[in-house]
Amino acid sequence: MALEIQLRAASPLDLTADVFVVGVLQAGKVHALSPSLHALDGALGGALSKLAAKEEFTGKRDQTLSLPTLGRIPAEKVILLGLGERRSIGAAEVRTFAAKAARAANGEKASSMALSVPAGLEGELRAVGEGLELGAYRFTKYLTGDRKPKASLASVVVAAAGKLKPIAKAQLALGQKIGVAVNLSRDLSNEPSNVIYPETFAHAAEAVAKANGLKIQVFDFKEIRRRGMKLIDAVGRGSSHEPRFVHMSWAPKGAKKKLVFIGKGITFDSGGLSIKPAAGMGEMKHDMSGAANVVALMAAVAALKPKVEVHAIAALAENMPDGNAYRPGDIWGSLDGKSVEIINTDAEGRLVLADALAYARALSPDLIVDNATLTGACVVALGNTCSGWYSNDEATAREFAAAAKESGEAMWRMPLLEELREQIKSDVADVKQTGERWGGSITAALFLREFAGDAKWVHCDIAGPAALERPTAWMQAKGATGHAMLTFIALIERSI
Ligand code: BES
Ligand code: MN
Ligand code: ZN
Repeated sequence: MALEIQLRAASPLDLTADVFVVGVLQAGKVHALSPSLHALDGALGGALSKLAAKEEFTGKRDQTLSLPTLGRIPAEKVILLGLGERRSIGAAEVRTFAAKAARAANGEKASSMALSVPAGLEGELRAVGEGLELGAYRFTKYLTGDRKPKASLASVVVAAAGKLKPIAKAQLALGQKIGVAVNLSRDLSNEPSNVIYPETFAHAAEAVAKANGLKIQVFDFKEIRRRGMKLIDAVGRGSSHEPRFVHMSWAPKGAKKKLVFIGKGITFDSGGLSIKPAAGMGEMKHDMSGAANVVALMAAVAALKPKVEVHAIAALAENMPDGNAYRPGDIWGSLDGKSVEIINTDAEGRLVLADALAYARALSPDLIVDNATLTGACVVALGNTCSGWYSNDEATAREFAAAAKESGEAMWRMPLLEELREQIKSDVADVKQTGERWGGSITAALFLREFAGDAKWVHCDIAGPAALERPTAWMQAKGATGHAMLTFIALIERSI
């Protein structure tokens, strides 16, 4: 459930809530409370300034101070959160601050919170809205009885100190919608594979399209085969859950640009006949995080209403071993026409993406961006809090790098090393599915590049699905998604 968020230009002291979280800018090295906190300190009989001095609280970033109020003010607890120095704070830092506040409120078993945004940051209310939703996120739907959380944050009053612009409320609400969209991606990713499989994932996409007035097409297995998406056929044929192909679009009148986002949607990756070891296999329910991102992105797009065309493509299949499954040594055609020599049925993501890329190219886009939990090798390279990305075009790469920086997400550009291309040459087909062990993220990207043709293209090898969708405490506190959605939003906004 989305939070109920209100905006007030009130003094936070007047607000009633279970917890009262106050953002504090770092002014200097003195452990003195800013004048705006004097009233609060007074109401608490000077306890706040005493504690702040004892704990050397200066408002440094990530510094926190927590104080029970023992009934002296309406809120049970006051929490001060350091934001750092004003000049070091942008939208991403404000988002993190709001996320930390929401997380702290949930930690206190509070169902209501008053959040005081320091003067000078009232222009960043969109980031506040985003952060509140991101930080409040938990996946608890399958917990029953005692395991259910005792309370969860339901309502927030945002108190902004400075003068509010007329659009302030709308910005806060927009931010919230974006946060809700990111949480939708997390929810889809966290659903187990007995609940979310290609067919039910497509239903979820249809629900998003319907709720937001977006166009959607869903191809069933018959249609996938009829259209010649042979690689999706190969990957999905071993499962009793048939593949699906989803195409959603936002096409405003007068749009001058067309962006296509593709997501890998392997609803479970057992590895197929090249089966994975048992340890950790369950994490592969998240192997549709890329597809979840693009579907949820469309919900954010519907809220943002950009003047560019945005398409989302989800290539959905379950990778399972079976008498009908594809095998190592097989040679399969593709929508693009190229033939592929299969080496390892566990390298399935690049196959479904190859057909999605060919489909996307036919839309004549200005840019194609795919994202996929594609390789363990990328997780080895960058850890599971950072995603790798590649591009075949330098101007595009500059734009994408700027979008990633703006979003505050951890995204690291990786090289398309030409010298590794040898590894995906095949003796029996046009291209070989996999390279050797080392450089596995790069050879996967080189394989995809073959199917991007001359389109401008970015490929994101997104970080470890487990860390992504059940964000680590660190990521949750930062309000980070780790899964590139905020970068995509920034990219769309930059291209208007
Ligand atoms: N979905 C996995 C990649 C993955 C594994 C992402 C763990 C995040 C965490 C992908 O389909 C896969 O199995 N890739 C193989 C490729 C190999 C067989 C060439 C891999 O990375 O080991
Ligand atoms: Mn795999
Ligand atoms: Zn996979």
